[in-house]
Amino acid sequence: MRTAQTNPFSPGADIVPDVWAGRTEQLSDWRDVVRPRLIAGLPERGRTILGEPGLGKSSLVRRIAQHAAAAGDWVTPQLRIPSGSDPLKLVASAVLALAEEAGLPSSRERRIAQALARVQTVAASGLSLTVRAQEGPEPHTALTALLVEVGRAAVARGTVALIHIDEVQNIADEHALSQLLIALGDAITHEEAVELPGGAKVRRSLPIAVYLTGLPDFEDRAGAHKGATFARRFKTTVLTAIDDEDITAALHGFVLPGWEVPDGDGGTTRIRMEDDAAAAIVDLCRGEPFLFQLAGERAWYASRAAVITREQVVSGWRGAQREAAAHVERILTRLPQRERAFLEAMAALPARVRKLGRIAAEAGYAKTTDAGPTSQRLDTVRGIIDRGKLYTFRHRAVEAYLTSDWPRAE
Ligand SMILES: Nc1ncnc2c1ncn2[C@@H]1O[C@H](COP(=O)(O)OP(=O)(O)OP(=O)(O)O)[C@@H](O)[C@H]1O
Ligand SMILES: [Mg+2]
Repeated sequence: MRTAQTNPFSPGADIVPDVWAGRTEQLSDWRDVVRPRLIAGLPERGRTILGEPGLGKSSLVRRIAQHAAAAGDWVTPQLRIPSGSDPLKLVASAVLALAEEAGLPSSRERRIAQALARVQTVAASGLSLTVRAQEGPEPHTALTALLVEVGRAAVARGTVALIHIDEVQNIADEHALSQLLIALGDAITHEEAVELPGGAKVRRSLPIAVYLTGLPDFEDRAGAHKGATFARRFKTTVLTAIDDEDITAALHGFVLPGWEVPDGDGGTTRIRMEDDAAAAIVDLCRGEPFLFQLAGERAWYASRAAVITREQVVSGWRGAQREAAAHVERILTRLPQRERAFLEAMAALPARVRKLGRIAAEAGYAKTTDAGPTSQRLDTVRGIIDRGKLYTFRHRAVEAYLTSDWPRAE
């Protein structure tokens, strides 16, 4: 039965949805690169996953964390940094929880007891510790020391410790950001001498994986201020729209064999979706994960029948249009004025003449080169456009909103 309880779509923030689409590159990066390398003692950079609102950054890393936990790894919950808060306290508490999972509090070693005590102080006082520096080491050295102990315990157990810090753009305080990046970076790059059976000594890295997620604005702050060190220690990916093929594939389970739900009588039944209903969802959501969940949810609720039809998708979407428009408006209004003006100028031109010169003129720049930095940011930092021979939109919902009647459905 199609009810609220059986609806598998979930257009809310931070959710790992039942109907998952794409992101195979990032999932396999964890499964085939990061985790195996860490287990093998090889060095591996942390991962920074950035993108415009609603592109699925939090969900992606939560899903990676679920895979990790299922494999027996030690994972922190998603550590969301509230705006203006002290991130060191939050991360310190989470590292203490990891230490607990690693069994460190029961260790008799003085070194470990000291590391725990220091991080407890950081968890209680956070950044304010750094202004009373005479009382002990800087918070970052305390955090690194305990992370290293967690890492050693992970080596002994053959697991990985995974730390997920979300909404990193909210770390407003420069000093806090630098303490945090140094603490994590030092733990990631820490090397240990280990003795192999037979007595040979080799160096290995510790199995500590760090994922940072947030809005692209973070890159400016971490990238510009922390410069090369940050870039060497963290690899940044900017998420963009999900491919249509991936969304089609995600819906395939509805088309064939149908999505299994309880039938209300103790058994199960299947809710099916017609091919062209699936195609309509793919078309309406424009590769936006949030809009994909929204379109799916609305279609689900549009009828109680056992088959989801194209008409249901369209009529459901009508009820979601305002929300879909508001989603894109939120992305646009967050942009600095110049970037927004550039996108509007680009959208106003026919696709086949979208070259930098034409767009710059349309946006009112005196010289083409003046538009260079803005267009570069929209491409490399935000992933909203692609600067090929012709400029194109990578954020297809932004494109649709600026160039057509979308989200209106016929
Ligand atoms: N790969 C995916 N397949 C299907 N749905 C997804 C996928 N990733 C995310 N979603 C859905 O998209 C919505 C937004 O995801 P999420 O909250 O992770 O985005 P975000 O990038 O973290 O947004 P914000 O910048 O607002 O924090 C959620 O409803 C989530 O279920
Ligand atoms: Mg998020």
